[in-house]
Amino acid sequence: MPNILLGVSGSIAAYRACDIARELMRAGHTVRVAMTRAATRLVSPDTFAALTGNPVAIDVFDEPESGQIAHIRWAQDADLVLIAPATAHTIARLAFGLADDMLTTIALATRAPMLIAPAMNPAMWTHPATQAHVQTLQARGVEFISPAYGVMACGDEGWGKIADTATIVQAVARRLLSARDLEGVRVLVTAGPTYEPIDPVRFIGNRSSGKMGYAVAEAAIAHGAQVTLITGPTMLTPPAQAQVIRVQTALQMYEAVQNEFAQCDAFIATAAVADYRPERTLPKKRKRDTQSWTLNLVPNPDILGEVAQRKEHRIVIGFAAETDKAIIRAKNKLLRKNLDLIAVNDVMEPDSGFEVDTNRLSFIFANGRVENLPLMSKRECAERLIQALAAMMERKVRHTNSQE
Ligand code: C5P
Repeated sequence: MPNILLGVSGSIAAYRACDIARELMRAGHTVRVAMTRAATRLVSPDTFAALTGNPVAIDVFDEPESGQIAHIRWAQDADLVLIAPATAHTIARLAFGLADDMLTTIALATRAPMLIAPAMNPAMWTHPATQAHVQTLQARGVEFISPAYGVMACGDEGWGKIADTATIVQAVARRLLSARDLEGVRVLVTAGPTYEPIDPVRFIGNRSSGKMGYAVAEAAIAHGAQVTLITGPTMLTPPAQAQVIRVQTALQMYEAVQNEFAQCDAFIATAAVADYRPERTLPKKRKRDTQSWTLNLVPNPDILGEVAQRKEHRIVIGFAAETDKAIIRAKNKLLRKNLDLIAVNDVMEPDSGFEVDTNRLSFIFANGRVENLPLMSKRECAERLIQALAAMMERKVRHTNSQE
């Protein structure tokens, strides 16, 4: 029976948390409630205690169950943390990692997936400060259940009303399911560009930011996978739960993938590997002069193409950044490289491709099926890719079982 930690903060919508708690219990979950001080002015803790049959925690030093350090025990017991309603203030505290009441302390101590249903005045929701905190939390894998449009208690109209109970309860169910569908699955991900040195200070690189690959690693972790992330140089912070192998060049990435491939169940190659490297790296910085000079380039190994030829039971997914005839080229690439799925994007589109936060992907499967996704954040693209991976893994398990 999943254990839900319901965090309630001090929005007028706090009363809606009673309904949410009841619906979660009806779905068979155990619910424990942690309230902020402000929330207790709107709904009595006794109401939640009566509804859930469990004591309610408020202050850091509360010990609602005697002999237990609640913030650690409750944090470890939780299969999912839902904060509904979440005020601008609580979202900010979570983004900063403050631990000044029981709710935020548990939020810091838990490793369970976290869902947040914001509720606030539309001006506060759209304020750049709040939106920056939302982005920070999303980057850590926190899922937001978008607020709805409507008239607020204060009379203002806009985005800021807490989502309806059914939407919140469905989001919890979905997250609980997806949090386990890749449990025990080892996923190897390559990300970022590679740098091919010309001399000790210069290199040939490309515009890959690593955002797509890091989002894929985060999404796989959110589904319960054990992730190894082999990353070229990026400005990004890798997910804390991933085993990270840092490389600079295509040859180093090749070696790292060769070492890790045997131990993985799925390989997702999002890295923008340099196709060529300078034939030799100059030992010293080449001095500037007035002469032109020629740099001789030799091809790098096709990491994905090579390991996929001996993939056996593994699922192998590639990416294709194309500038024209995207689908036809990607289909050929899928066949040539022996892939199960290729995610293709047209990098000539301004909102798709390098450096930006959004992507417009098409998935092409080995059986020729094409799924065109709308423009969405790289995070959402990654989630869809991992959902496709989970579906392929499940089909594979079913197929293997039926053969036994
Ligand atoms: O052939 P192309 O470079 O377009 O293929 C892109 C796909 O192959 C990506 O998934 C990329 O990560 C992978 N790749 C690779 N090693 C290379 C070139 C591309 O793994 N040298």
